[in-house]
Amino acid sequence: MLEVQSIYKQYDKKTVLENVSLSIGEGEIVGLVGENGAGKSTLLQLLATLMKPDAGEIYWQGLAYRQHVKAIKQQIGFVPQDLAIWEHFSVEDNMRYFERLSWKRIGIAACQQICRDMQLPQWKEPASSLSGGMKRKLNLAISLIHQPKLLLLDEPTVGIDMRSKQEIGRFLRQLAETHGTTIIYTSHDMNEIEQFTDRVLLIGKDRYYEELLRTKGIQVDCL
Ligand SMILES: Nc1ncnc2c1ncn2[C@@H]1O[C@H](COP(=O)(O)OP(=O)(O)O)[C@@H](O)[C@H]1O
Ligand SMILES: [Mg+2]
Repeated sequence: MLEVQSIYKQYDKKTVLENVSLSIGEGEIVGLVGENGAGKSTLLQLLATLMKPDAGEIYWQGLAYRQHVKAIKQQIGFVPQDLAIWEHFSVEDNMRYFERLSWKRIGIAACQQICRDMQLPQWKEPASSLSGGMKRKLNLAISLIHQPKLLLLDEPTVGIDMRSKQEIGRFLRQLAETHGTTIIYTSHDMNEIEQFTDRVLLIGKDRYYEELLRTKGIQVDCL
């Protein structure tokens, strides 16, 4: 379980997150939505231990981030908005490279299985030859090598074709169901959010998304 208690975050004098609290259970998929600049990436980076909140506490499985950052880090997979793959390496060599750096050594066969499950079959091909959607899949596959229990995805499906989007969404659902992985991801595509998430957290002051989601009958919690 992920528990966020009254966190605050400022950049210089600008407050981005103010008294944000939330709670997410094991195996839940939660969509994080809000207009540009609302603080979605900031919140994900705090949850990924890449930044610390100015005030407030975050707990993962009852462990406080402030005291147990090392242990918690090992259970987190974070996929930033920008691709972090080796373009000149094949899919296989990308997986080999990151498997070697991983907290957990799962072996290359298990890495290939992740790619298969994700419908990324171009094992021997250079990453540079992949479509945008396939590159996103590779980026996601890399983040799964250490078998994280908490997966944080910053716009994992931005700018990709419908088919890859569907395949990624279905893969995430399967991951949550079979491994109990807790997943938080951001997207601006409300159809995708409706289809693949269990519920939605809305961040920021823009009520446009709230109305849109409520018309679709989706449960929205405002942060
Ligand atoms: N490193 C930073 N330094 C200063 N301001 C930042 C930094 N990162 C983000 N911001 C500002 O904080 C606000 C929230 O940004 P962000 O979390 O990226 O929002 P979102 O992901 O919802 O678009 C924006 O106004 C952005 O300009
Ligand atoms: Mg962002």
